[in-house]
Amino acid sequence: MSENQDKSLAIFFGTQTGNAEDLAMQTKKIADKSGLETTVIDMDNYPANELQKHKRILIITSTWGEGEMPDNAAEMWDDVCAKNPSLSGVNYSVCAIGDTSYDEYCQAGIDWDNKFKELGANRVSDVQLCDVDFEPEWKIWVDKVIPAMASIEITLTTSEPEPVVEAVKEAPKEVAASNGKSAWSAKNPYMSKITECYILNGEGSRKETRHIVFDLGDSGLDYKVGDALGVVSENPEETVNLLIETAGWDESQIVSTRSGDRTLREALKKDFEIHRVNKKFVNSLSEKVTSSGMRITVKLIERYRESVAGNGSDWMGGDAPLQSELLPSIPGDDPVGRVENLTSDPKAMEDYIWSRDYIDVMRDFDVNYSAEEFLEIADKLKPRLYSIASSHDAHPGFVELTVGIVRYSHHGRDRGGLCTVYMADEVEVNETDVGVFMSPTKSFVLPADTSTDIIMVGPGTGIAPFRAFMEQRIHDGGSGKNWLFFGDQSEKTEFYYKESIESWLDEGHLYEFTTAWSRDQEEKIYVQHRLKEHGARIWEWFERGAYFYICGDKTYMAKDVHRALIEIAKEHGGMSDEDATYFIEKTMMKEEKRYLRDVY
Ligand SMILES: Cc1cc2nc3c(=O)[nH]c(=O)nc-3n(C[C@H](O)[C@H](O)[C@H](O)COP(=O)(O)OP(=O)(O)OC[C@H]3O[C@@H](n4cnc5c(N)ncnc54)[C@H](O)[C@@H]3O)c2cc1C
Ligand SMILES: Cc1cc2nc3c(=O)[nH]c(=O)nc-3n(C[C@H](O)[C@H](O)[C@H](O)COP(=O)(O)O)c2cc1C
Repeated sequence: MSENQDKSLAIFFGTQTGNAEDLAMQTKKIADKSGLETTVIDMDNYPANELQKHKRILIITSTWGEGEMPDNAAEMWDDVCAKNPSLSGVNYSVCAIGDTSYDEYCQAGIDWDNKFKELGANRVSDVQLCDVDFEPEWKIWVDKVIPAMASIEITLTTSEPEPVVEAVKEAPKEVAASNGKSAWSAKNPYMSKITECYILNGEGSRKETRHIVFDLGDSGLDYKVGDALGVVSENPEETVNLLIETAGWDESQIVSTRSGDRTLREALKKDFEIHRVNKKFVNSLSEKVTSSGMRITVKLIERYRESVAGNGSDWMGGDAPLQSELLPSIPGDDPVGRVENLTSDPKAMEDYIWSRDYIDVMRDFDVNYSAEEFLEIADKLKPRLYSIASSHDAHPGFVELTVGIVRYSHHGRDRGGLCTVYMADEVEVNETDVGVFMSPTKSFVLPADTSTDIIMVGPGTGIAPFRAFMEQRIHDGGSGKNWLFFGDQSEKTEFYYKESIESWLDEGHLYEFTTAWSRDQEEKIYVQHRLKEHGARIWEWFERGAYFYICGDKTYMAKDVHRALIEIAKEHGGMSDEDATYFIEKTMMKEEKRYLRDVY
């Protein structure tokens, strides 16, 4: 490109929990190397009529809710749709990240792609759809789109360079924003304190599910039932110590992070996810290991998961080495061969990283990484979301959660989920500051008419939003009936919120309560079985206009419940398979919006 050429590239990101932002930053690095002058732009509140000034635009966005824009992109999307600015002369491409287990796969990215085309922009490369493990598909897109963008010649029309748009908009600290939106966000969380954190399980349970209460203090934070709370956690102290020791780093070394310059120790504690090794790190071993003939012990851990009544966090497992005869493809003697095997066989890679963190891998391969090299590869620490289990009307100033603590043990060390173990073990009640923000929902809401009946299916931690719904319905005082389906392993140990449920029943607020205790009898009984047993009455409720809600595990439970609903429509609605599917998936879900899901 010659001197009077416009080399600018704007990368817009739409994100809820940071994945799309990370990809935008990684895209920038690659684009800068190709001679483009790249700016990363948070979509938050970006004005539609300024889009036209960018001649090269990349959009990287996730999809949330039921095919909706992530929170930071919603206003910009509405503004673009309202103003429909001409985008002729703009060259663009979209990378959409999503999850194929949701019906509206990557819909937000598809919407942007169509909108830009409709507004006259030039599509440089087709929209790239990326599933949960998004990096390989993103890489295909980047490798295509960056050279294509760089090869477009654009002559500067003014003598002044275009103003550089701010990379990231910082919300003011301290108070709520004046535009009605909260100033507290994933980037600028409110520092709350946990006031209660107790175990809901009875003695002898194989699970640890906690009720956790956060104080909203003077934050001005508000929420409605159905919303989620974002929690920003930190890595366990002992993992930070052991990683520093294993890698031989100087903990006081100053490194640059998204939060600015800080010591390596602080960065490892607060800015990066160090509790599980990522694939990028294993891939990077190719450049580190040399063929030494030294013997390395490989222990693959079998991944398995119990299909219990819908608790999304109900992962089982400790060390369960695969039988040695299952390992012939892993060349155990040669590190180079082993790395080749891991990087060329996706199953071997998944099994290897499943049970390991960076400490395990550094020890396994005896490799050295500088702190800078490591931070370049490690994932940025991301907040976790939790369905809110309280009504703000019932608990003014507080927000309550139902959290399944993720714990497991591998390679001789106890480990677990980043955020759940942080809340359970590291946070001191009424002492530790914990960053939180609200993640409001547009779709998972109570019917506006309080006389409408509702059916709620929330096994395991899926009960969280329904505790909130019940509190809200009681507070609002409508005549609509409430029917709750709940389940978990055993009535004795997993009957969460028993006292509240019994008093709602006694007082007539809960019209019906149906349970599925999977292990209290010989055969496994889950909520979908109970739904089918009560199919005739559920169908009557549907015919009277009842709303149907489901919360919890998306991989197994939500799919089984969905199938049960189609069966109910066939059996009790007298529909063909096709009509029943249409009724559940189109009529109830899309047109009437009374089949609503909060699944994770
Ligand atoms: C909208 C929304 C609402 C949610 N609501 C709730 C809620 O109300 N309650 C709730 O508890 N959760 C909820 N979640 C899930 C929550 O956000 C977290 O994903 C969950 O708490 C785990 O977070 P973590 O940081 O502790 O675990 P992470 O560090 O994220 O680790 C979890 C991962 O650990 C791995 N793992 C699990 N067991 C093993 C094992 N034995 N060996 C090796 N690896 C293992 C699995 O890959 C699992 O995905 C919700 C999620 C979303 C998106
Ligand atoms: C509650 C919830 C709803 C989601 N809805 C969709 C969806 O409708 N379509 C889709 O493709 N992905 C959906 N996803 C998946 C996210 O888009 C995906 O996890 C993405 O990596 C998040 O990226 P982000 O961190 O940039 O927001 C959903 C995820 C959650 C937790």
